[in-house]
Amino acid sequence: MKIKLLIKKIIETLQSLVLPLCSVMPITSSLFFTFFSRDFYYEHQAILKARLKYSKSNGQHGRSSALLRRNIHRIEKGLVMRPRRNVFALDYLSETLSAFNSAMNHSNFSRSEQQWAIDVLSEYFSVVDLTQATIKKNYHLFKSIIVNTQITDKKPYQYKDKVCHNVHYDQLFALTQARRSTRWFTNQAVELEQIKLAVKVALQAPSACNRQPYQFYMIDEQPLLGQLASLPGGTAGFADNIPSLIAVVGDLSYYPYTRDRHVIYIDASLASMQFMLALETIGLSSCPINWPELYTLDKKVSKLLGLPQYKRVVMFIAVGYPDLTGQIAFSDKKVPDDMVVKVKA
Ligand SMILES: Cc1cc2nc3c(=O)[nH]c(=O)nc-3n(C[C@H](O)[C@H](O)[C@H](O)COP(=O)(O)O)c2cc1C
Repeated sequence: MKIKLLIKKIIETLQSLVLPLCSVMPITSSLFFTFFSRDFYYEHQAILKARLKYSKSNGQHGRSSALLRRNIHRIEKGLVMRPRRNVFALDYLSETLSAFNSAMNHSNFSRSEQQWAIDVLSEYFSVVDLTQATIKKNYHLFKSIIVNTQITDKKPYQYKDKVCHNVHYDQLFALTQARRSTRWFTNQAVELEQIKLAVKVALQAPSACNRQPYQFYMIDEQPLLGQLASLPGGTAGFADNIPSLIAVVGDLSYYPYTRDRHVIYIDASLASMQFMLALETIGLSSCPINWPELYTLDKKVSKLLGLPQYKRVVMFIAVGYPDLTGQIAFSDKKVPDDMVVKVKA
């Protein structure tokens, strides 16, 4: 133990010595993380493995296709443009039809995703110039793929026709105030159906190009629950009291480019917030749990959850029925005046 601490101290001292020099330029910063720190090792490898997975599977992920979702989304954006052009999407149309074909030939592919693609592509081909060579070729391919399929209405629509809500600002504010990180729960089991109900709300969250590159893993069986609950340091003192744990897992292999490596964290976090608010409305409480970027922990969690390296834990969320006598932190919030920066021209 003493030797371990000594090595840690030596590394930290060495790092603090080279830090000023290494932080001068991007290249010297990279040298720092090559020779003086292993902080990015596992993450770099995860990103490369993700790119490899993407190129091998052509963006398909089981019942869903990141490539198809992205391109159908791009076509929808083209359809809602003002003015709408009668020739667009040429540079990715063939790629889209190829992904569409794979999706339609995949026996277990998401029916909902297939229908969205069918409806948007139908709309696209009904408004573009079919004499244009690329469009013409892909239109014929589309017609041959959609034989015996029905067209529905999963396509762009006007704002006035969208779903209405009657949630008042005060009601939303009260809901956000009522959600508080809760660490003490009763031992009542959390039903899978309740989690799915909350996830249904979570899935309404925005996501980059509508790819939704994450999943919610529910863990409520021992010994796995105990092993996972005690992994992140932030559960010390209440890990044994968590009846159900959600691992929010992002899939880096939804992206062909490294530049999108942060998107899983953004998309999954937006969805997680809606998930926690939805839990509150059905009588469940929650506490988000930090997942540190430590490759030793990543290895452990990947093994316990059976995750390939490109699937990354974004956070854990403890979920349960609240123990009404359990204390919750006051957690004072900042005020808007200090948080909004009005930028002047
Ligand atoms: C990304 C994130 C990580 C968190 N990690 C932990 C954690 O590891 N352990 C814990 O007890 N609470 C954790 N929390 C809960 C915060 O402590 C809590 O959100 C904050 O104090 C504000 O309190 P409130 O959620 O009741 O508004 C985390 C929250 C977030 C958003």
